Amino acid sequence: MGVAAAVVVLVVAVLGVATVSLAETSTLLEVGACPNVTTQPNLDQQKLEGQWYHIIRFPTNEEPFVTCTRSAYTYTDGYLEVKTEGRNASDVGVTRSGVLGQMPDSPSGALQLDMDGMPPLRVWVVYTDYTSVACLYSCSQFPGLRAEWAWVMSRTVRPNVKVVMRCRTKLRQLKVNAAKFKRVPQRSNCYTN
Ligand SMILES: *[C@@H]1O[C@H](CO)[C@@H](O)[C@H](O)[C@H]1NC(C)=O
Ligand SMILES: *[C@@H]1O[C@H](CO)[C@@H](O)[C@H](O)[C@H]1NC(C)=O
Repeated sequence: MGVAAAVVVLVVAVLGVATVSLAETSTLLEVGACPNVTTQPNLDQQKLEGQWYHIIRFPTNEEPFVTCTRSAYTYTDGYLEVKTEGRNASDVGVTRSGVLGQMPDSPSGALQLDMDGMPPLRVWVVYTDYTSVACLYSCSQFPGLRAEWAWVMSRTVRPNVKVVMRCRTKLRQLKVNAAKFKRVPQRSNCYTN
């Protein structure tokens, strides 16, 4: 048994049912606590509507997407419907649907991201200007351990480097290790529309 699997088994043994979904999806767990992050003040969910191309993200086993990934956000009754499409490791087109909604009474402005095939995640929109870039960060805490997700999404397939840098800088200020970001390759023939 690998170290990661051993850690998952250990966590399940300690926490019981609560972490079964995480164990099933083999999230990368790390030693350490979640940093204290907050959503950008006065987030306007409606202005997040539209197409977002995934530019860089933390590697994770939950998402099938490897290349050519984008999410369409549609505002409905106080939350965002999310439809993500991309190509998996076999270069086959895959789509996943879900919702992103603000959690009630969250002092940090946390949102909940509920996507097919992923555990429900607490997510913070740490920065967005709505028109060029959005950075989402998620962290789940277990005794002594954490699991992190992060995405930098842009309105265009090839965003200006400075635009992506705004997200990296913001996350570094929040004490998140931005060195973990990996590029999501986008090709000129990724999308037909
Ligand atoms: C986050 O804030 C809480 C309360 O302000 C504090 O107890 C905790 O140590 C902080 N965590 C980190 C990782 O800084
Ligand atoms: C990619 O998706 C196809 C269709 O769902 C599936 O058959 C294939 O196993 C997937 N490839 C990987 C590496 O997951």
